[in-house]
Amino acid sequence: MDGSWKTIVEPFRIKTVEPLGFTTEAEREGILRDACYNVFAIPADKVLIDFLTDSGTGAMSAEQWAAIMRGDESYAGARSFFVFEKAVRDLTGYRYVLPVHQGRAAERILMGVACCPGKTVLANSHFDTTRANVEASGAAAVDLPVPEALDFQVPGPFKGDMDVRALEAKIRELGPGNIPMVIMTLTNNSLGGQPVSMRNLREVSEVCRQYKIPLILDVARFAENAFMIKLRESGFSTRPAAEIAREMFSHAQGCMMSAKKDALVNIGGFLALNDPEWVARCREALILTEGFPTYGGLAGRDLEAMAQGLREVLDEQYLTYRLRSVEYLGEGLRRAGVPIVEPPGGHAVYVDAKRFLPHIPPDGYPGQVLACELYRRAGIRAVEIGSLMFGRRQGGTFIPAPMELVRLAMPRRVYTQSHIDFVIEVFADIARRVRSLRSLRLLASPPRLAHFTAKLAPEPV
Ligand code: F0G
Repeated sequence: MDGSWKTIVEPFRIKTVEPLGFTTEAEREGILRDACYNVFAIPADKVLIDFLTDSGTGAMSAEQWAAIMRGDESYAGARSFFVFEKAVRDLTGYRYVLPVHQGRAAERILMGVACCPGKTVLANSHFDTTRANVEASGAAAVDLPVPEALDFQVPGPFKGDMDVRALEAKIRELGPGNIPMVIMTLTNNSLGGQPVSMRNLREVSEVCRQYKIPLILDVARFAENAFMIKLRESGFSTRPAAEIAREMFSHAQGCMMSAKKDALVNIGGFLALNDPEWVARCREALILTEGFPTYGGLAGRDLEAMAQGLREVLDEQYLTYRLRSVEYLGEGLRRAGVPIVEPPGGHAVYVDAKRFLPHIPPDGYPGQVLACELYRRAGIRAVEIGSLMFGRRQGGTFIPAPMELVRLAMPRRVYTQSHIDFVIEVFADIARRVRSLRSLRLLASPPRLAHFTAKLAPEPV
């Protein structure tokens, strides 16, 4: 928009609305008790503002809904597949495109083909399903983030970067033949939704080339990453986001995508690769578990919506609004005295519960306590990324996670500024009486991905 206005408006108007779930505090206390203090067990219509995830929760555009009507539902060779394949090729430059129903299906298929026991995958940070799929193949997953990524208080422009020296050292230690791939997650969801710089991508790519190790991108949030490069890295300010995205892809040999984020759809994903040998084996696995390679577990209409979303997401008016709205929430929380991971990420603000609730020890689950209080007080749902998700028990000893965070992930094109103002107001209220919040105790949890189904209860007074 021209002029120098301070307010960045939502670059859309609303055509279809969906009512929100208003409840009373007393009702929510009962709902929390019934859910055993696990926010995943709360029915969504009892949630007022849902910041649980930005995955599959966005609003599609009128053009995407129109594309849905063009969906060709033929089993093999559907027209919609070729529309989708062209959109992915135009964006990524990779030769082979395999649709899948969501990101973790791409991970499972690729890891099943490329990994086996004795191998190690290196990444800036593996997202938790990526790690789980690497480990399910028998291989190990090692994260090599830059050291500043773990210092939540100090802002930096590219805290999603990989530690290139550590990468070289690890390759020499393990031997390049034992590393089937290096993964760069754009943006780095596990450590605050922070972007990766083009410079880092280039350096990692050079190291990989030197040792002949394929570099694979996890591009769930590629457009947010590209736009942060435009805003923060020198030499990119005048280049279109779409061109920056294409340059990002050019440094790697393939990518996996959960289209539920930056393809602006509610379901979908893909694998795009250059290596014909990997592709042939991935295609076999795809037919076995997802579907024929021209639909991959999706409907033709889903492919059309993804193709349209992949183009729309690179609109700079949209990206300006998107990053600004997350930053706006971050500024409001900071003003309310709530410590957050600095700077706010592309898709979410991460509250540092360790610092916000210092009186609650890791085995009292400070992040989960905050998540439950957000719901109890105002019907806001967020996700803990801390000791409930990553803490372990070994023998009788509790090993806490390195961080205690609560992620406020913002669905795309769903909430307006007043929704965000309300969330900020609720945080200011909680900040005033944060010392009165009490620990939770873990009653039951399964051995893997425990946070989805764990049962908790408040510590008795
Ligand atoms: N990679 C990243 C970086 C992700 O954030 C996710 C999902 C996946 C892969 C897996 O994709 O869900 O389509 O199977 N992240 C969601 C989240 C679940 O809430 O952050 P999926």
